[in-house]
Amino acid sequence: MNLILLGAPGAGKGTQAELLMQKLAIPSISTGNMLREAMRNGTALGKQVKQYMDEGLLVPDELILGIVVERVAAPDCKNGFILDGVPRTLNQAEALEAKGVKIDHVVSIEIDDAVIEGRMTGRRACTACGATYHIVANPPKAEGVCDLCGGELTIRKDDAPETVRKRLEVYHASTEILKDFYAKMGKLRLIEGNQSIESANEDILAAIGAQV
Ligand code: AP5
Ligand code: MG
Repeated sequence: MNLILLGAPGAGKGTQAELLMQKLAIPSISTGNMLREAMRNGTALGKQVKQYMDEGLLVPDELILGIVVERVAAPDCKNGFILDGVPRTLNQAEALEAKGVKIDHVVSIEIDDAVIEGRMTGRRACTACGATYHIVANPPKAEGVCDLCGGELTIRKDDAPETVRKRLEVYHASTEILKDFYAKMGKLRLIEGNQSIESANEDILAAIGAQV
């Protein structure tokens, strides 16, 4: 089961990827989390991407493709994987096809821009494992501490309102077009994002025909 999760910033890709990863027992590959980890570790990649991420702009395709193609070839992906936040441009989608990365379903989590801001202001992310929380919709058991790994929860730098607006603009300009790309291939599944986390997850599992 090879899945792509598409959707605007704050649509719930990371949240749904974490649930699907547990239920389907396949890894979630989040380019955003991988890039944030590279920045924290001060690697060459981290230094190259910092300015783009801080400004809410897309990182150049060639930097993304290298890390994704290598990651999906790892042994833990042999029964499937969930791509969270990639591909994000037509060029990335075409390059994955050209490199033979097989995709079964593309789930687009649909949500109006107006709902996004409340989600982003309440989001907390684990600095150690990348797990996502919301202070109202999905709070951690202990404030400021990740349920999964005990890591520290912080507000992402790119969740500042003006950066969120930029990221939404970028989504509409460069990423939304991927829905047409995958619809033509018969792989697109549209999911209502403005409902509870659990209901959206049930809709996704039904849309991809998963038995859990
Ligand atoms: P990335 O980390 O992928 O960010 P994003 O796509 O902007 O998406 P988010 O992580 O902000 O939102 P999400 O959909 O995961 O929502 P979440 O589940 O957290 O990318 C960051 C940056 O990295 C990019 O700007 C770019 O610079 C770079 N980058 C990454 N990949 C790239 C690529 N392929 N190409 C080029 N550049 C790339 O949910 C949001 C909040 O809402 C949480 O608090 C959550 O708890 C809550 N929530 C979730 N679902 C619900 C619900 N149903 N009801 C109520 N609250 C909910
Ligand atoms: Mg995310």
